[in-house]
This record gives sequence, structure tokens and C-alpha cells, in this order.
Amino acid sequence: MQCEQVTPKSYPVNLIDKDWSERKLYFWSPAKSFPAMIHDMEVKEDDVWIVTNPKCGTTWMQELAWLLLNDCDFEAALSKDLELRSPFLEFDFMVNSDEQTALERVEELPSPRLIKSHLPLPLLPRQLWEKKAKVIYVFRNPKDAWVSGYYHGVTIGYNYGKTLEQFFDECLEQESDRRYIIEHAAEFYQLRNEPWFYYTSFERMKCNLRAVVEDLCKFLDKTVTEQQMERLLKHLSFEEMKKNPTTNHLWESTQIKLENGGKEVHNFVRKGKVNGYKDDLTPKQIEKADNFIAERLLLNQVTLEELLLVDKL
Ligand code: A3P
Repeated sequence: MQCEQVTPKSYPVNLIDKDWSERKLYFWSPAKSFPAMIHDMEVKEDDVWIVTNPKCGTTWMQELAWLLLNDCDFEAALSKDLELRSPFLEFDFMVNSDEQTALERVEELPSPRLIKSHLPLPLLPRQLWEKKAKVIYVFRNPKDAWVSGYYHGVTIGYNYGKTLEQFFDECLEQESDRRYIIEHAAEFYQLRNEPWFYYTSFERMKCNLRAVVEDLCKFLDKTVTEQQMERLLKHLSFEEMKKNPTTNHLWESTQIKLENGGKEVHNFVRKGKVNGYKDDLTPKQIEKADNFIAERLLLNQVTLEELLLVDKL
């Protein structure tokens, strides 16, 4: 997928003090005026936004947040694809490239809306920085996120015929949003103590999902009974989510019409491991990725342990 560099009309200077003019930001090409439309879109006070780098456990968190916002209505969750209950902000434009209709699904959603986005903070709606609707962020070790992204890309077509090594080199070397995975997270990490913001990691969800559910109940002002908690933990387990048709992006895959889509299929809820990258990458690739990540961490004055919330594991 081709990307182009974009410059937002304004930056979240009220939230983070940094030289934003140095921040490289990318959007799918042709971006047309869609980034500006997002910049100006209306955010509702009771919106809940889930923002992540791709493949960091977005779907997992979305299903959890949707259930909490909808009084643990498991039957409703099991009867409608998650991406129709909680739309992906950029998706429609990505597949149809039509600005007229791109935000319809999000705008028509009944409140409280649960909206997913992979956009970095400066490309999210300006009202989100000002109105401070609730935002949930999930980080994951970039090596696992990239490997997961490779297999997802093979399934939908854009990585079909490409080796994992080729894809990895693209992630580290090509100018696109993938190179800025650490910047994406580090900016949100700085907001972690804001009352309207909840920051967690895939690794923490794997380590103690109950604690994340409890955190999220507090954050969303919801309560669950012990019986509901037990059902939530089962419903959100890897095994259940893997076999649940509504959490495997089946509707979404019917919308993406890439030439090589569906020729080699990997389940969306695929492996669900922490450090699963060790089974896929060679020591040389791991070293290359580690050097790249270390460089970006240094530039952003944050450690991987901090971003992963290692002290909470
Ligand atoms: P893998 O490809 O490493 O298995 P996203 O929703 O952001 O695209 O993230 C997808 C990743 O989250 C996939 O990682 C998927 O398997 C994992 N995932 C989804 N639900 C999960 C669950 N209940 N438990 C563990 N991992 C889960």
C-alpha cells in the first residue's frame, strides 16, 4: 500500500510540548482531503476511541470495551461483526477512496460511539485533543506487531508473494507510518496520567486480563458482577475469540478487494502470543529490528519496558 506524507492543519500543542514540525506523518495515497476532514470532524463528549498501532490487540480491546459499554450483552456481541458495532475510522476511505461516504458509518453510529483508529495523535480529530473524550491506547512489542501485520497482509493480499524478511525490511526502511510505531506510542504514553486517557499493553492483557477489565470498568465508569467477569474472561480468551466469527473481521475482508486477497489465509485471531516473533524471525532480523527500535526509543526518550508497562506485568 502506498503512503504519502501529510501535514495536519494544526498539532496537539495543548497536550504535548515538542517540535511538531519535525514529526513525519503518513496517510494512504491518495490521501486527498480526507486527513483534513478527520481533523475537522465532530467528536462527541461520550465517544470512546480505541487507538493503536496496527496489530497491537485492537480487536481484543474493542470487544472488551464494547461489552462494557453495552452492559455485557454477549448475545448482541455474538450476533454482529465487531467492525459494524465499532467502526474503524479510516477503513471506508482506505477501501473506497470516497470522501463523500468515508465517515458515514461513524457518523451514523448511535451514542456512545466506540471508534477504532490507527492514526497517530496529530492526525486524529482536533476536537479529541480539546474535548477530551475517552481514549484507550494499546501498545505491543513492535516485533510481534510487525510479524502479525505480515500475516494479515498476506491474507488480505498486499503481502501475498512477499517474504517475511522483505516485509520486515520495508517496515524498518521505507518511509511510511510503520517506521514511526515508537513515536505513535510515545506520544500517547505521555498522556497516560490524564483522566480521560487509558494506556495499556497487549503484554499486560496477556499477563492479567482481569486487572485490565477492572481498570477499564473504572475508566468507563462501569461495574460488572463476578458472573459477568467470568463470562467476559472466557469470551475474551484467545480460544473463544479465535473461533468467534464476529471478532475475526470477516465483514471487513469482504470489503477489501485486493488482487491477491484470500489466496493464502491466516486467521485474524492467529497466534496471540507475547514474543511469538522468536518463532518467525532469524537472529539477524531480530538484531536489526532491535537496533532500529533502540534508536527510535532514544529519540523519543522512552524505554521499551516503559511502553510495555513491564512494571505492571
Ligand atoms: P497475532 O497475529 O500475533 O496472533 P489487531 O486487532 O490490533 O489487529 O491485533 C491482532 C493481534 O491480536 C493478532 O496477533 C491476534 O491474534 C491478537 N489477538 C486478538 N484477540 C486475542 C486474544 N483474545 N488473545 C490473544 N491475542 C489476541
